[in-house]
Amino acid sequence: MAIKKIKTAIFISGRGSNLKSLINYSRKKKSKIKIFLIVSNNSKAEGLKLSKKHKIKKMIVDFKNQKMAENKIIKELNSQNIKLICLAGFMKILSKKFINKFKHPILNIHPSLLPKYKGLNTHKRILQNKEKYTGCTVHYVNEKLDSGKIILQKKIKIFKKDNLKKISDKVLKIEHAIYPEAIEKILN
Ligand code: GAR
Repeated sequence: MAIKKIKTAIFISGRGSNLKSLINYSRKKKSKIKIFLIVSNNSKAEGLKLSKKHKIKKMIVDFKNQKMAENKIIKELNSQNIKLICLAGFMKILSKKFINKFKHPILNIHPSLLPKYKGLNTHKRILQNKEKYTGCTVHYVNEKLDSGKIILQKKIKIFKKDNLKKISDKVLKIEHAIYPEAIEKILN
C-alpha cells in the first residue's frame, strides 16, 4: 500500500543544500513527505534553482513588510493544504502570530548543539571558544529564536586542525543526514 505523504513546504534564504537533501529524501518511496512548495525571502537564493529542476512551486516573498509577507505565505500554505514546514537555512524569524496561525509542525535545523550557540555565526564562535565538540540540531520552532523542543541532535568532535571551512563542511554533512531522520521520527 502506498504511504500517504505529508504535504510539506521548505523555507530557504540561500544555498539550499538542506533543501536538496530533503528533496532527495522526499523522492524515496518510503519517505513520509512530499514537497509542494519552496518559500524564500531572497529572490537570489541559490536554492531556488531546485524549484525548476524538480518542478516544485516556488514563492518569493519580500519580508520588508513581515506582516504582509506572512499573511501571503499562510494563504498559500492553506490553499495547498500544507501540513509541515521545514526551515532550511531560512534567515528570518517567524512571528508568534504566524506560528500560531499555522496549526501544524514547523521544524528548523541549526548548526550547533542547542541550547548552545543560538543565532548566527555559530561555527566561528565555537572555534573561538575552543569547543571540543559541535554538531547540529533539528527542533520545533516556537516564538523564541532557536529555542523550541529538540527533536534530534548529532555530535561531532572538533580536531585541532579543523578550521572554519572544515567545521562547516563536516556539520553540513551531518545536517543532511539528520533532517530526514528527524522528520521520520516525528511522523512515525
Ligand atoms: C545550514 O548550516 C543551516 O543549519 C543554517 O544555515 C545553513 C543553510 O545552508 N541555518 C541557520 O543558521 C538557521 N539559524 P543550506 O542553505 O545549504 O541548507
